[in-house]
Amino acid sequence: MKPKEILVFGASGFIGRNLIRRLTKNNYKVIAVTRNIHQKGYILKTESNPGYLDIVEIKSFEPNKIRELMRGCNVCVNLIGILYEKKNGQFNKFHRLLPDLISKIASESDINQLVHISSLGIENAKDSIYASSKLNGEEAIKTNFERYVILKPSICYGSSDKFTTKFMSLLSLLPFMPLYYKGKTKFAPIHVSDFVEIIFQVIQKDLNNLTIECVGPEIMSFEKMLKTILKSIDKKRLLFPLPYQLAKLSAKLFQLMPEPLLTEDQLKLLRYDNILSGKYKTNFELGFKSEKKFENEINKYSYNWRVGGQFSNKKEVV
Ligand SMILES: NC(=O)c1ccc[n+]([C@@H]2O[C@H](COP(=O)([O-])OP(=O)(O)OC[C@H]3O[C@@H](n4cnc5c(N)ncnc54)[C@H](OP(=O)(O)O)[C@@H]3O)[C@@H](O)[C@H]2O)c1
Repeated sequence: MKPKEILVFGASGFIGRNLIRRLTKNNYKVIAVTRNIHQKGYILKTESNPGYLDIVEIKSFEPNKIRELMRGCNVCVNLIGILYEKKNGQFNKFHRLLPDLISKIASESDINQLVHISSLGIENAKDSIYASSKLNGEEAIKTNFERYVILKPSICYGSSDKFTTKFMSLLSLLPFMPLYYKGKTKFAPIHVSDFVEIIFQVIQKDLNNLTIECVGPEIMSFEKMLKTILKSIDKKRLLFPLPYQLAKLSAKLFQLMPEPLLTEDQLKLLRYDNILSGKYKTNFELGFKSEKKFENEINKYSYNWRVGGQFSNKKEVV
């Protein structure tokens, strides 16, 4: 039987790279779409065996280009997402308009299944532009193409993420760390290999017309996650609750950085728990177990930030 051909938008990202490995190892052929083949090509190429991966560069998402890419593909996975806007309107462009366009074109093409990655915990966060743009994207897909699966993960972590590794670096450098909303916001972190396994199973089982909330086995407050990271990198730091007005001011300053540590919109989103809403099916209900525990998993790469590690500013004296 001819292997399925899978078109992946946002393939060079954290989840995308892990997904390509899982798919190509299992004989799926992947077409990875990137905006910059020179910058991202080498990262993508190392994720698969020769012959299983084609890399295509597109500079803009013109309908005809998307139509052409979809020709002959069975599945389309959309992983494109941004955490902050470089220009006003980018959340709307990438989280609503692009999924709208992709799903409209999918409905007229050979695509048999569209897997779209949205986010958990966005339903109540009406004041966050990120959250409302992601929700609008979900709605557009549901309207345009019934053979969709929308996956809504909580924080997804792993050795090449931008979350745990960023905090490992920050907590190594800084003597203290502020806690927004007293650090009480809850998360259900899911390891990237568990999340990618869910995407893989969704494709293999050819599911459709489904929205699935994807969580790991534990619920942890933000404070608990930071404390677990501190223990893992063997550091002691002061964690203190930052009053909201000061948090807002710090976000205003941080968002001026080229890669903001925190934006005002992210601060708004952080107020809402990032756990199962009860509105959708969950990965557990569908038999997709995610068993990896946060502390066990981060211990496998946090040694890089401990004394003597690659990213430690203190080297062991030999
Ligand atoms: N990681 C998490 O914890 C998490 C949690 C919840 C939801 N999600 C969602 O899951 C999806 C994938 O997450 P990820 O962590 O893998 O993201 P990521 O590492 O930031 O990668 C996102 C991909 O999107 C593409 N992209 C970024 N900015 C773009 C832009 N301005 N125009 C066009 N393409 C752009 C990039 O592709 P190129 O540079 O190759 O073009 C990149 O590979 C996103 O939709 C995200 O919102 C992630």
